Amino acid sequence: MKDLSPKPSDLDPIERASIDEIRSLQLERLRWSLNHAYQNVPMYRARFDAAGVHPDDLKDLSDLSKFPFTTKSDLRDNYPFGLFAVPREQIVRVHASSGTTGKPTVVGYNRNDIDMWAEVVARSLRASGLRAGDMVHVAYGYGLFTGGLGAHYGVEKLGGTVVPMGGGQTEKQVGLITDFRPKGIMVTPSYILNILEAFHKAGLDPRESSLEVGVFGAEPWTNAMRQEIEESFDMHAVDIYGLSEVIGPGVANECVETKDGLHIWEDHFYPEIIDPDTGLVLPDGVKGELVFTTLTKEGMPVIRYRTRDLTRLMAGTARTMRRMEKVTGRSDDMMILRGVNVFPTQIEEEVMATGGLAPYFQIELTTSGRMDAMRVLVEAMPYAVSDLSKQAAATMLTERIKDHVGVTVSVHVGDPGSVPRSQGKAVRVVDKRKPG
Ligand code: DLL
Repeated sequence: MKDLSPKPSDLDPIERASIDEIRSLQLERLRWSLNHAYQNVPMYRARFDAAGVHPDDLKDLSDLSKFPFTTKSDLRDNYPFGLFAVPREQIVRVHASSGTTGKPTVVGYNRNDIDMWAEVVARSLRASGLRAGDMVHVAYGYGLFTGGLGAHYGVEKLGGTVVPMGGGQTEKQVGLITDFRPKGIMVTPSYILNILEAFHKAGLDPRESSLEVGVFGAEPWTNAMRQEIEESFDMHAVDIYGLSEVIGPGVANECVETKDGLHIWEDHFYPEIIDPDTGLVLPDGVKGELVFTTLTKEGMPVIRYRTRDLTRLMAGTARTMRRMEKVTGRSDDMMILRGVNVFPTQIEEEVMATGGLAPYFQIELTTSGRMDAMRVLVEAMPYAVSDLSKQAAATMLTERIKDHVGVTVSVHVGDPGSVPRSQGKAVRVVDKRKPG
């Protein structure tokens, strides 16, 4: 893999600012953002008043903890446009997430928000090792999902050439990558595995492709998966994080020279980690739920938005801004099996470490008697499809999960292609438990 480390001149001035400069900019912007929300969004005004706090009470960044949280249900309760802080006519774009139940959650951006978003995605792409003039293939879905358009505008802002492929049509993806020779690709980590498979099916060596860096996010993925992708394509694999409520992709990104967690673009998004049960703010280094307050967003500011993503904050390394550890899961994704907490990423790690298995898996939750049970569906590598190999892999994976995760699961090793493929975010867990 090529060295894609940046030169100091590749960075935005704020990326080279001192911590003190960043903190003082944040304080100024946080005051503005709290006031903006209070003055223009009835929900925030009512919430702050009920909690007995006023934006003027913010003397210090730590005073933010006095302000109430915002949750996904607040977006649903104010569907569709109730949290906009500017007249609807000034909103130039909406996005929405479908959610599994009920109404979608809607977010809105004014012109400045779209510019800021493109800016943070462009910064993320530079951190990933891409530069003006580079071609980037975007295979995140376009549409109401923020992935495609968010990535797209970022590549344009970078000064790159964007290939707006979107998700799906996997064979065509391979054809375009082969013909256009992009340097970068932006796609979910689970979908790059399908693209990988399509390379093999087409008889092409992915290591010979033009790709030098992949910017992967929108779902949790492990360092074991990173290694698999990097080796398969001979390219750097870096992590991009974001969520629609805060902006979309580009809230935080890894630096290609360190790959040691994601630098949060703290000049626009102020992070806190809280104890998900008590709501108390936890110190840097301690794992908990990630909470964001937007500092510059105009169309739809969010104050102390509870992401449900579990991670910890760490001091900066390649940049001064703080890092968040790779998100290993959302509190919503946590399964409890006979008292043991299990995240899909833990299963992913064990699948990746078991010989003879392909990197595709799905978890089924079922009821066995009065207990919950977990079945892990995986598939054999094409070279290990004999009954004997499958049985050996199943035994090894069952043991690894028992030893490292602490739960007993049943494993089913199917033939290549037997696990459902994703075209965007992978569906890791299928809940087949009987209600009640
Ligand atoms: O997934 C935005 C995005 C698009 C990020 C493309 C990166 C790349 P939502 O659909 O609103 O937005 O989903 C947000 O996805 O709260 C996390 O649970 C999860 N997520 C996003 N990025 C990562 C990541 C987009 N790098 C939710 N690692 C978030 C783990 C991630 N989880």
